Amino acid sequence: MSHEIKNYLVTGGAGFIGSHLVDSLLSEGNNVITIDNFDEFYSKEVKLSNIASALTFDTFQLIEGDIRDKDLLDDLFSNNHIDVVIHLAAKAGVRPSIENTVEYYDVNINGTLNILEAMKKFDVKNLIFASSSSVYGNNKKVPFSESDIVDYPISPYAATKKSGELLCHTYHHLYDFKINCLRFFTVYGPRQRPDLAIHKFSKMILNDETIPMFGDGTTKRDYTYIDDIIQGIKLAIKNLNGYEVFNLGESRTIMLKELITLIEKEIGKKANIEKLPLQPGDVEQTYADVSKAKELLNYDPQYEIEEGIKNFIEWLKKS
Ligand SMILES: NC(=O)c1ccc[n+]([C@@H]2O[C@H](COP(=O)([O-])OP(=O)(O)OC[C@H]3O[C@@H](n4cnc5c(N)ncnc54)[C@H](O)[C@@H]3O)[C@@H](O)[C@H]2O)c1
Repeated sequence: MSHEIKNYLVTGGAGFIGSHLVDSLLSEGNNVITIDNFDEFYSKEVKLSNIASALTFDTFQLIEGDIRDKDLLDDLFSNNHIDVVIHLAAKAGVRPSIENTVEYYDVNINGTLNILEAMKKFDVKNLIFASSSSVYGNNKKVPFSESDIVDYPISPYAATKKSGELLCHTYHHLYDFKINCLRFFTVYGPRQRPDLAIHKFSKMILNDETIPMFGDGTTKRDYTYIDDIIQGIKLAIKNLNGYEVFNLGESRTIMLKELITLIEKEIGKKANIEKLPLQPGDVEQTYADVSKAKELLNYDPQYEIEEGIKNFIEWLKKS
C-alpha cells in the first residue's frame, strides 16, 4: 500500500510508547524528530537503548531538550517542517505525582501549553495528545466511555491529563487545530516503563524478591498491549478531523491477583507477596469502552493479556 511520507514530531520519543511509535513511523519511510530530555524518572541508558535502532536512520533526528524550553521549541519548529505532532512527553505515573505535584504540573500542563503555542506560531495544526484512563477517577459506571463526565480526578497526574485535554479543545476551537486526545489504558509490552506493575513484578519474581501488592489484589485494570496502542495512535493520525477524545484499551479487565498468577505461570515460579495498604491516588478499576475508536478509527485491538504477558517476559529475559 503506497502512502505519503510525512514529517512527524514525537515528543517523549525515547520513552516506552514513544520509541515504539518512532520505530513504526521510520519503518514506513517517514521523517521523525524527537524531543526528549531523558527525564530521570528512569535511566537514560534504558531510553537510549529504546531508540538504538531509530538512531541508525538518517530520517531520524533526536533533540535532547525540555518541552518547557520555549526558545528550543521555537528553533525546532522554525528549522523543520512538521506535519503532525504526537505529544507524548510527560511526567508519567500516578503515585509519584503526589510527591512531585508541582513538577508534574509544570511539565504536563505548561509543557503542553508550550507545544500548542509553538504549533500556533509556526502554523502546525495537527496534534495527537497522550491522555490517560486516569481521567475517569473512580468512575462507578463501567465500561468507561468518552461521554462520561471526567470532572473528578483523584491524582495530580490525572488532573494534568484532563487539563491537557481542555487546552487541546481550546486550541481546536480558537485556531482550528485538528486534535485527537487518546486516553491510553495501562500500556504494557517490551520496553514497558520499569515502574509499572507487569515490569516491576516480573523482574522481582525472576530475582526471587518479594513483590509489594497494594490492596487485597482485587483492583482491576484494562491492560493494553503496546502494538495495539501503536495501531490506535497511527489510526488517530490518519483520522484527524476536528477535536475528538478516544479510549484506547482492550476492553477486558484483570484483577491484580489474576495478573500476578499469569506472570507466575509464564515465569514458572511462585511469587512472594507482601500485602500493603492501597495507595492514595490509585483508582479501583479501569475498563475501556472502545466502541468509539472501533467505529470512527477502525481500531481493532488484537492482544489478549495471556499472549501479551508471554511476549513481555520473553523480551525481559533477553534484555
Ligand atoms: N504507559 C502507560 O500505561 C500510559 C497510560 C496512559 C497515558 N500514558 C501517557 O503516554 C505518554 C508516554 O508514556 P510512557 O509510558 O511511554 O512514558 P515514558 O516515561 O516512558 O515516556 C515519556 C518520555 O517523555 C520524556 N519527558 C519527560 N519530561 C519531559 C520534558 N520536560 N521534556 C521532554 N521530554 C520529557 C521522558 O524522558 C520519556 O522518555 C505519557 O504522556 C503518559 O502520560 C501512558
